[in-house]
Amino acid sequence: VAKVLGTHRTRLLGRGIDAQIVAALVRDSTRQRDGVERSRITRDASVFLGADFDLAIEVLGGVEPAQRYVSDILRRGIPVVTANKSLLAAAGGELRTLAQQHGTSLLCEASALAGVPILGPLGRRPLAAGIERIAGIVNGTSNFILSRVAEAGVPIADALREAQALGFAEPNASNDVLGVDAAEKLVVLLQQIGIRGIRAGQIETRGILELSPADLAAAREFGGAIKPVVAAEIAAGRVEAFVGPAFVTEANPLSRVTNEQNGIRFSGALVGELFYSGPGAGPDVTAATIVDDVVEAVSSGPRVDAPDLDGRVHAAIAAPPSGRWLVRLRFEAQPAGRSVTHIVEFLAARGVWVQRSLDARAGSDRDWYALTHECSATRLDAALADLHVATKCETYALRVLEN
Ligand SMILES: NC(=O)c1ccc[n+]([C@@H]2O[C@H](COP(=O)([O-])OP(=O)(O)OC[C@H]3O[C@@H](n4cnc5c(N)ncnc54)[C@H](OP(=O)(O)O)[C@@H]3O)[C@@H](O)[C@H]2O)c1
Repeated sequence: VAKVLGTHRTRLLGRGIDAQIVAALVRDSTRQRDGVERSRITRDASVFLGADFDLAIEVLGGVEPAQRYVSDILRRGIPVVTANKSLLAAAGGELRTLAQQHGTSLLCEASALAGVPILGPLGRRPLAAGIERIAGIVNGTSNFILSRVAEAGVPIADALREAQALGFAEPNASNDVLGVDAAEKLVVLLQQIGIRGIRAGQIETRGILELSPADLAAAREFGGAIKPVVAAEIAAGRVEAFVGPAFVTEANPLSRVTNEQNGIRFSGALVGELFYSGPGAGPDVTAATIVDDVVEAVSSGPRVDAPDLDGRVHAAIAAPPSGRWLVRLRFEAQPAGRSVTHIVEFLAARGVWVQRSLDARAGSDRDWYALTHECSATRLDAALADLHVATKCETYALRVLEN
């Protein structure tokens, strides 16, 4: 951010903005930082908070101590720009209320899809924000990994190492591959369209680690791709949402969002279908988005993205109770006499109707894939549990993200 402020100084001055870094809070004050005078760097929060500043940029990450510092600054009526989805997912509602109460701004464009600036416009336009469905790829690390597995047929662990070598994944990428980062971003997106009170931990969240190259090849045979998605449907005072890998059909533009790119689709009665894609993260694009928030914060009156919009506040959240499923059955060995027809009949007798099926590979290890018609999660779980008892096969089911 400091570098971008320096590089674009003339441009900012042209807009009447003379941005100077008067204090920078870090953990390690001995390290030199590009674009920041050494005397301005401190590891003492009270020195930082005691400095005379007109705006704060919060990029600490995590919930505490960020929440304490941001709350303190907002209470003083000083605007805050943050890129911190964990903070917003945990306390976005409270912080937005605090900013409103103290007549100041809280802007957070870089906290989700940092390089696709759509949060602010959504948050400021109550009709455009009357969105009923969100579906997106918001974690570039997972998308890169699954794209590599699909393309090169390498295992997840190898694709993760490649992502780390290329800088698309942190050394500790657990929050990315387990879906935690995506769940937090979904909470921020929901807040942005006026829905507060949802915690990331309440959302059905799965990681990508259980997937194999054969799963991604099977998805391609079925005419789609497995993508790490977030999805939410808002109806009748309730949010149905999930986070995790899902089968996305070719017709859905998210199936073509590859590598480290992010994509997001909004649908609603007034807005129709909106689709955006672009880089989700990266130092330069994130810093540019943060600096644009700074420009907005100092150029306009107090602005809080998504103040309480027309009471669209829902506390109830659940996983979608039903849908279509991509099911993988893994047999130790093909049980004699248990043909594909038998399995299809076994599932149908329990209310799970197979639409299409596919043998992924022959040999002693036998994977069998099926796309089902719509059925409830409860019914699917019961049928797969029965099948496990009858055949000892291991089962794994992915949700299908419909167009
Ligand atoms: N990187 C991206 O592309 C990207 C994109 C979108 C959003 N974000 C968000 O931006 C935030 C920062 O991400 P990052 O990748 O820039 O992380 P980072 O490299 O770890 O930077 C965090 C900075 O905050 C300082 N810091 C952290 N905790 C602190 C504490 N308790 N007290 C004082 N200083 C503290 C660190 O100081 P030291 O340098 O001394 O350790 C470091 O300068 C996160 O919320 C992240 O989700 C990042």
